[in-house]
Amino acid sequence: MRYARIEIAPSILAADFTRLGEEVRAVEQGGADVIHVDVMDGHFVPNISIGIPVVASLRKATRLPLDVHLMIEQPERYIEEFVRAGADRVLVHQEATVHLDRALAMIREHGAQAGAVINPATPVAMLTEVLDKVETVLVMSVNPGFGGQKFIPGSIEKIRQLNQWRARYNGGFRIEVDGGVDAENAAELAQAGANTFVAGTSIFHTPDAAAAVRQMRKLATEALSQRV
Ligand code: DX5
Ligand code: ZN
Repeated sequence: MRYARIEIAPSILAADFTRLGEEVRAVEQGGADVIHVDVMDGHFVPNISIGIPVVASLRKATRLPLDVHLMIEQPERYIEEFVRAGADRVLVHQEATVHLDRALAMIREHGAQAGAVINPATPVAMLTEVLDKVETVLVMSVNPGFGGQKFIPGSIEKIRQLNQWRARYNGGFRIEVDGGVDAENAAELAQAGANTFVAGTSIFHTPDAAAAVRQMRKLATEALSQRV
């Protein structure tokens, strides 16, 4: 399987924005694989966060891949600009565009990796026609818009389903999980088939973000090696 590796993707939404560079360095030291960037427009989700200039600044501050999660309506309007600003991976919501196939194609044409995202109420079956066109499927395990929410347990079954399907699709895709991911559920998520663990609160709202990254990787990797 092409995407069997575990990746830890700290979400900077929970970082201290006055010290963003230091926060990124801390998780780098802990061995983070990816930096997850949450972009919210106040329409698709009831919150506004950060945008293109922050992605451009992060691009100068780290060599880690930037995983840009667009929680914006009609994301195709901004794909080119985010890739130009330095996004390595761009993730668009199935619910945010009537042209998901086109949005994913645009991401790839601009040279980034494409990801499709589903909200908690969206069944994984909504993605069957695009599974051969994505590097990542992101299962939202909270309703998007805010950090610090409680993990929705039904997300685990969605990950299991995707894990069963992916062998059939173009060598597979990464399964990413975002929302309420912590030391309590990391092992079960890894066993279900998740590869990329997005975590904000459980990494940055701790005394030692680097240690939290290491701990999450340890839990996920050990659980994976125990999988039968
Ligand atoms: C929620 C965002 C998440 C958020 C996760 O809309 O997509 O990336 O930062 O935060 P935690 O890990 O605190 O649930
Ligand atoms: Zn996110």
